[in-house]
Amino acid sequence: MNQKTIFTCSKCDAQTLKWSGRCSECGAWGSLKEATETAEVSSPRTAGKPGEIKQFKGHSAQSAKSELTGVSALDEVLGGLVQGSVTLLAGEPGIGKSTLLAQAAIALATSGKKIIYVTGEESPAQIHRRLIRLAPQLPATLFFLDLTDVPTIAATIEKEKPDLTIVDSVQTLRTPDMNGEPGSVTQVKAGSAILTEAAKKCGTPLMLVGQVTKDGDVAGPRVLEHLVDSVLFLEGDHEHRYRILRALKHRFGPTDQSALLTMTEKGLETVTDPSQELLQHRLSGIPGSAVTCLIQGQRPMLLEIQALTNPAGYGTPVRRATGVDTSRLGMLLAVLARRAGVNALEKDVYANAAGGLDARDPSADLALVAAIASATKNVPLNPRLGLFGEVGLGGELRPVALPELRLKEFKRMGFDHAILPKGQIKKSVDGIKTVEAATLEEALRACGL
Ligand code: TYD
Ligand code: MG
Repeated sequence: MNQKTIFTCSKCDAQTLKWSGRCSECGAWGSLKEATETAEVSSPRTAGKPGEIKQFKGHSAQSAKSELTGVSALDEVLGGLVQGSVTLLAGEPGIGKSTLLAQAAIALATSGKKIIYVTGEESPAQIHRRLIRLAPQLPATLFFLDLTDVPTIAATIEKEKPDLTIVDSVQTLRTPDMNGEPGSVTQVKAGSAILTEAAKKCGTPLMLVGQVTKDGDVAGPRVLEHLVDSVLFLEGDHEHRYRILRALKHRFGPTDQSALLTMTEKGLETVTDPSQELLQHRLSGIPGSAVTCLIQGQRPMLLEIQALTNPAGYGTPVRRATGVDTSRLGMLLAVLARRAGVNALEKDVYANAAGGLDARDPSADLALVAAIASATKNVPLNPRLGLFGEVGLGGELRPVALPELRLKEFKRMGFDHAILPKGQIKKSVDGIKTVEAATLEEALRACGL
């Protein structure tokens, strides 16, 4: 046995041999605490009994039995709750995680299922207020447990064997005898591991809520990814009502599912036709508007990209973007000026993915550039034209994934022609005329710009 003194950061769990006022890993002040580490100097077990290998061929791909939650977005993305499965629902504070799970809890409890909502992030009174807003008549089998002590929560799960346990959130869990404050990597991991074991033991599905901050919180869901069966992400712009739910990891089903939701006064509502919903407020005949098709999971979604340019006042021209990356916007403005002869470099440029959705995908480049060129020249694009493709520094258009799926979605939404990178499609899609352009200049010409 070898004893030495080490200092552990209570925020990020980094360890150092020397004390300092500030953690060198995460930058937190006053978070280093002394701990005596006992390093066991023993060799690991290397001998074991051989395991049985099985042929993949003929192995039945049986799917686990799952229970639908009644919240369609959750059911689409997760395919229902599997017994003993552990799902992490991650997202920024205020994005609607508690709302979504409250809706699932109400729906399941209404069909007689026993649900335990472990409250740590908010008080039972706050959660109650949210619940009765969502359902004035609360079902009798919806329970809460106002605790953050992990062993007690685990024992309760094992005793009560509910049909679903919701823990809101993992950042509030406290496991005695473990280092760190609630929310630290050690605490989050230890608490989640103990609850996972309890859930597996008694077959109750467990939903863990994980808060992430914009800059990717240290104790965020990343540290739990390997521990849980599924990781769902709820994202969107706080100022807007749209949210996207997607699976980042899913043991019991495909990870390429996603759903669009809107935040309403009655909670999160699943949008059945995202393209229809996202294009409904579009004005046609306005310069600076172009429509692209994004792929969320396997799902095509038409999205309007808007741009506005204005003569700049004093100093550096303004670049503002929502749902579009500002540095990519700067790069595309330079490419547009140098490679396609449309100069908006001296102008204030505002770019926006309508609805506050995230369009930081290179396949949206072409639509963004076309919107800027259309705004600069004050010439509207054909409202039934769709565009997609990545724009390179040389002004070349680069292929993107799933072109046929995008074309079909344009066609379904009544678009009659599309501009896309050259060499993208193997087989044409009926009912939509396509122009394959090798360069940005060619594409803009085909747009009439
Ligand atoms: P919340 O679920 O508390 O977010 P999170 O758990 O991810 O932190 O919800 C966040 C916001 O949603 C909050 O500002 C209020 C709003 N909201 C509605 O607009 N409608 C509703 O029906 C509910 C319950 C919440
Ligand atoms: Mg919450």
